[in-house]
Amino acid sequence: MTTRPKARPVSRAALAGEADPRLVALSVSIQDDAALFAEDVRGSQAHVAMLAAQGIVPRAVARRLRRALDQVRQEFAAGAIRFDPALEDVHTHVERRLGELAGRDAGYLHAGRSRNDQVALDERLFIVGACARCDAAVARLQRALVGQARRHLDTVLPGYTHLQRAQPVSLAHHLLAHVEAAGRDRQRLAEVRARAAISPLGSGALAGTTLPLDREAVARALGLTGVTRNSLDAVADRDSAIELLFAVALAAVHLSRLGEEIVLWTTREFGFMTLDDAFATGSSLMPQKKNPDVGELARGRAGRAIGDLVALLAVVKNLPLSYNRDLQEDKRPLLGGPEALALTADALAGAVETATFHADRMEEALGGGEALATDAAEYLVERGVPFREAHEAVGAAARLATARGVPLARLDAADWKGIHRTFGPDVLRCFDPRRSLRRRELPGGPGPRAVRTELRRWERALGAAR
Ligand code: ARG
Repeated sequence: MTTRPKARPVSRAALAGEADPRLVALSVSIQDDAALFAEDVRGSQAHVAMLAAQGIVPRAVARRLRRALDQVRQEFAAGAIRFDPALEDVHTHVERRLGELAGRDAGYLHAGRSRNDQVALDERLFIVGACARCDAAVARLQRALVGQARRHLDTVLPGYTHLQRAQPVSLAHHLLAHVEAAGRDRQRLAEVRARAAISPLGSGALAGTTLPLDREAVARALGLTGVTRNSLDAVADRDSAIELLFAVALAAVHLSRLGEEIVLWTTREFGFMTLDDAFATGSSLMPQKKNPDVGELARGRAGRAIGDLVALLAVVKNLPLSYNRDLQEDKRPLLGGPEALALTADALAGAVETATFHADRMEEALGGGEALATDAAEYLVERGVPFREAHEAVGAAARLATARGVPLARLDAADWKGIHRTFGPDVLRCFDPRRSLRRRELPGGPGPRAVRTELRRWERALGAAR
């Protein structure tokens, strides 16, 4: 057993005595970055294997260190590592525990490496994993939406603009709108992942190393696609973290919009949707309450996700090259944000999957034909009337209906004829919402065939069982 001064951090080699406790309290990040232990160990194992292959470290030592690092990982996973604020971060905690297990040999590990390129690598590995985790969760939500869309191809409701009833759409079309947004989120995550998946190791503190490292070999061993091309940039760059937080924030905003609709649709006033009890919450005071907390939390979480993005942009914005300690402040947003998104997407997926949609209430909300006024205008357009004139005519019809206190669909053929001579008695057919949908078969539109096409495309893409 070698003796060391207790918990004297490796990084204080040139400094006298110990750090003031107030500085220690400010510097410590293990409570946040301990979450990176698996990435940190993986990176170290790849680094030491390369050091051995390059003849920088004896092969037997590298083998022992790799095994000991396995044990460190297990101990971290089991929560068996005691945190010591004086050791600052996850990198020094791993290194210190390795020292306890492997003695003097542990000192070989850090050759040609700095915590600056080490943390940059750990974060890149984390980002690659986080993109995959978020992607899987958002895909599960897509499957839940697609499953309900399949069941509700024939359910018609008013589509809304300005939260006012506008024109009829099928519930399938509405649900698939959320699937589209989620699809863009997944594309963004894939792009973030591709840009993140390169290795900064070999950049050292900022200026590389005199040792003959094999950077490409480390990258390959870690499943990364290449290496960074400028050592200063490599340790200063947090673009991938920022891009991930943007992708997460925008995905969270999409979940928030879905959450808002769940909140609205489950009100007595809308009555379009009932949550399964397993996805509803009660009130501690009011016994009759059934609350859509799942949607509200989705809205609230988006606030945090936006904050995380802005926080990291603000941390980076004035930093000169290259590494600056400010960058340590990236940990909380980066490490917490993606997980929160995945949890939110999973809960929403469950809520959507198990919800009941009320076709009768949706049908009622279509009202007395107001949602089909545009169809009546297009009736005239098809018969050669300029659209503006047609728009005016149907506006006059709407005023007439309002004056009589009847819904638009209640006007009779003579009323329409009186408003514009081009109206024939068949104008009344415009007020059948299903007929209206059948006539909206442009690609991407709400026509039943167009929607079926998109639904099948998504089912294939998601491998969703029919
Ligand atoms: N905990 C530090 C961070 O997250 C690791 C890098 C420390 N580097 C340094 N030169 N103090 O940024």
